[in-house]
Amino acid sequence: MEGAVVKVDSFEENTNAVVLVVVLSSWICSAQASYVAAVYEHRVEMNPQPSVPLSRSAALLHMRTNLRVYEQQAEQASRQGAQILVFPEDGLHGFNFTRSSIAAYLEIIPDPQHETWNPCEEPQRHPNTEVQQWLSCMARRQRLYVVANMGSVQPCSGTSASCPSDGRWHFNTNVVYSSDGLMVARYHKQNLYFEDAFDAPPHVEVVTFETPFAGRFGLITCFDILFRQPTVALLEKGVRQIIFPTAWMNQLPLLDTIQFQRAFSLGANITLLAANIRSDPLIMTGSGIYSPSSAVYHHALMGDPEEGRLIVATLEPLPDGPESEPVQGFTDAGLCGSEAHRAPQSFTSYMMHDIFTFVLLLRPEGRLSVCDGSLCCWLQYRLTENNLTEVYALGAFAGLHTVNGNYSLQVCALVKCAGSEPQSCGREVEQAQTKMDFTLEGTFSSSYVFPSVLSSDYTLEQPTHLHTSPQGTVTMEHSHMKAGLITAALYARTHHLDPH
Ligand SMILES: *[C@@H]1O[C@H](CO)[C@@H](O)[C@H](O)[C@H]1NC(C)=O
Ligand SMILES: *[C@@H]1O[C@H](CO)[C@@H](O)[C@H](O)[C@H]1NC(C)=O
Ligand SMILES: *[C@@H]1O[C@H](CO)[C@@H](O)[C@H](O)[C@H]1NC(C)=O
Ligand SMILES: *[C@@H]1O[C@H](CO)[C@@H](O)[C@H](O)[C@H]1NC(C)=O
Repeated sequence: MEGAVVKVDSFEENTNAVVLVVVLSSWICSAQASYVAAVYEHRVEMNPQPSVPLSRSAALLHMRTNLRVYEQQAEQASRQGAQILVFPEDGLHGFNFTRSSIAAYLEIIPDPQHETWNPCEEPQRHPNTEVQQWLSCMARRQRLYVVANMGSVQPCSGTSASCPSDGRWHFNTNVVYSSDGLMVARYHKQNLYFEDAFDAPPHVEVVTFETPFAGRFGLITCFDILFRQPTVALLEKGVRQIIFPTAWMNQLPLLDTIQFQRAFSLGANITLLAANIRSDPLIMTGSGIYSPSSAVYHHALMGDPEEGRLIVATLEPLPDGPESEPVQGFTDAGLCGSEAHRAPQSFTSYMMHDIFTFVLLLRPEGRLSVCDGSLCCWLQYRLTENNLTEVYALGAFAGLHTVNGNYSLQVCALVKCAGSEPQSCGREVEQAQTKMDFTLEGTFSSSYVFPSVLSSDYTLEQPTHLHTSPQGTVTMEHSHMKAGLITAALYARTHHLDPH
């Protein structure tokens, strides 16, 4: 770019040369050119009686109400230069269906690996594919890539062991259309979360697609983000841009939507495009566009109008990294019980259904450590803005989380306690005034450690410094907080310790 500027100067009088330079500079930059991504947080128009089966035309009429909103947002996104737009999980049909009541919503979605199909150009090729046609035409009309989530059905035969007894698989499915309307990817969600209407696919699908503006993206859906398949499989393939339609219920202090989205992007050192549902009764809000160095996000607060939100951001493409061997996890660092001294004043309290061992921060500054089994967490801190009624604790948990899913964790977390009594540490808190400079550190047996700093009223802070040692020690430093601290966490998923 600097070379181009010099050229403009030397051809000051020649307007043609300026045009040439502009063309040249855009060509020079094309290898590294930034792109514009959009995600839409959608307030779903619900079916008021989701358990009652309905006709195909009634299902289409219902989905059309949501699709009209999608179309307006696609137009808005396109106006703002977006080249890709992501819609949330369940955004077209909503929630609480049974296996039979979802039926009218489902379409057979052909495999784009096996056939080239543009539903907008060739609507007659497959019957009963209205939703696919709408989405394809939307992408084509607005000249952008569209990623949406819908229900699909695939007949299967009883000879396949995993074929349900009614002879059809129901999949929670992400579909992707190019800016011409061509279907480019299809992904069936692997890790269902209490979704009676849907089946997990018979084989794990690790799905990516190429774009002309940013290279390769991988697809996952909601709960998938916590699991080895397909999420870690994508990362091991070197995929560094992940698309994440979700319908995620906020769960403080560790798994609020934007908190974990930010943490995942930072921990995996990737771009994440996250689109969530907006629903007050379901406690769903929080969407964003995250790169390792930036976060553009939205998180509605209590009392905000319950409405959708388009988020648009400019990003640098992240080219694929090298493929890596599956990491089996490190052996224990073995510091606990030997070098690390046990905190004398530790206590236990539940945080998100797991029994954490905690120590309180009792002084304006200090060093603390706390261990759970072989996991030890260290904290060095200095309060910079103090509210004496606010109590903080450092907690450690290593073990199997078993509520609403079984998955192994190692967590070091500095949290604001909900009250002054120890048992309130680990409960949900949304506001805080206390600020501190701190270094939080843990030695984990996994390389999938997700760091986050969540501040008062759902604001994210970018850790000042992050460091990972080859032995699995992760150090997060943070200073000059912009708002009071809710949670600072190193949340590790130890996939290799999951039950099978
Ligand atoms: C759907 O289910 C959730 C939780 O199971 C419930 O809270 C909600 O009221 C239900 N919504 C509808 C529309 O039935
Ligand atoms: C993250 O990725 C960038 C390349 O995009 C690389 O330079 C950097 O070292 C990576 N950071 C970590 C912590 O791996
Ligand atoms: C201290 O924090 C508490 C709880 O966050 C708040 O209710 C109180 O008003 C604060 N006190 C001062 C002096 O700001
Ligand atoms: C977790 O594992 C237990 C014991 O194996 C099992 O009974 C339970 O259904 C699992 N829970 C989920 C949500 O998968």
